[in-house]
Amino acid sequence: MNQKVEDVKRQIDRFLVETGTHLEEFRLQFLSKKSDLQQLLGEIKSVLPEFRKEFGQEVNELKQYAQQLFDAYKKRLEEYAMPHISDIDVTRPSTLFNTGSLHPVSLIMNEVYDIFEKIGFSIVQGSDIEDDWHVFSALNFPQEHPARDMQDTFFVNVNPEFLLRTHTSSLQVRTMENCLPPIRVICPGRVYRNETITARSHCIFHQVEGLYISQEVSFADMKQVLLFFAKEMFGLETKTRLRPSYFPFTEPSAEMDIECKICRGKGCNVCKHSGWVEILGCGMVDPNVLDNCGINSKEYSGYAFGLGIERMAMLKFKINDIRLYFENDLRFLSQF
Ligand code: PHE
Repeated sequence: MNQKVEDVKRQIDRFLVETGTHLEEFRLQFLSKKSDLQQLLGEIKSVLPEFRKEFGQEVNELKQYAQQLFDAYKKRLEEYAMPHISDIDVTRPSTLFNTGSLHPVSLIMNEVYDIFEKIGFSIVQGSDIEDDWHVFSALNFPQEHPARDMQDTFFVNVNPEFLLRTHTSSLQVRTMENCLPPIRVICPGRVYRNETITARSHCIFHQVEGLYISQEVSFADMKQVLLFFAKEMFGLETKTRLRPSYFPFTEPSAEMDIECKICRGKGCNVCKHSGWVEILGCGMVDPNVLDNCGINSKEYSGYAFGLGIERMAMLKFKINDIRLYFENDLRFLSQF
């Protein structure tokens, strides 16, 4: 191809037409009487006869090419761009888009953090996959304890040494192993148990466990902190009660109930018609556990507790089916 023709073709190909102004520039530059292309057309007659035919053909083809592009650009601008530009009312207020909201479990978790932060607890987090030592052995679970059974706990196939933590007490073990007392932490996280999924139980749920280790810690210290928590969380009028219970890692152990918020203590299916709902397990850390984790049980004592987050959200938001938390149904989630 002739060099001059090639140069003009390159210019045409590089030209971007996006608006009506660009289109007019394109026309002036390549199709008008004064354009380079028009000049090339004028040059045809002065080219040597043996080259004239070929040159004339190239210039004419380029002119056709430029004209076709121009028509196509024009059509496109008319069809798409113009109507859109004129349709847009830039002064119209925009529609609000949905920014989403926090999941009820996150809302309760955040509240729990705030309450315990006020009284000096810090947050410790860790991995969902744990080993037997941190979930069971260090916590005094006997070898034949049912929680160690495949029926109750999810073990990791590739290495049955590992399992999905059944409680975040594993983080308490890790904290005691790695920190010197006094210790004052809460351990939030997702936990897993091999349970049948029903309205009241699920194979996944969330806990916030707490641990306080110092010198001369008493059961009364624990009771006072838990009472403070219940009143902050559920209101000053909230009625609570502690019932004796059993956990392998605490002695003595207890469970704390609050008066059912759904029926106000009258009895409903959430509180199994007792008027009370259990919200946490607690107790004084067993001296064996302290020793297992490298803390001298003769010098130190402490308490631990574990809160069920879904249960508390159920009471606060009056939700009667635990499965709703995990179904991701927007009709449910958008209420929070
Ligand atoms: N780890 C216990 C559970 O998951 C709860 C608990 C924590 C009880 C600490 C006592 C002390 O059920």
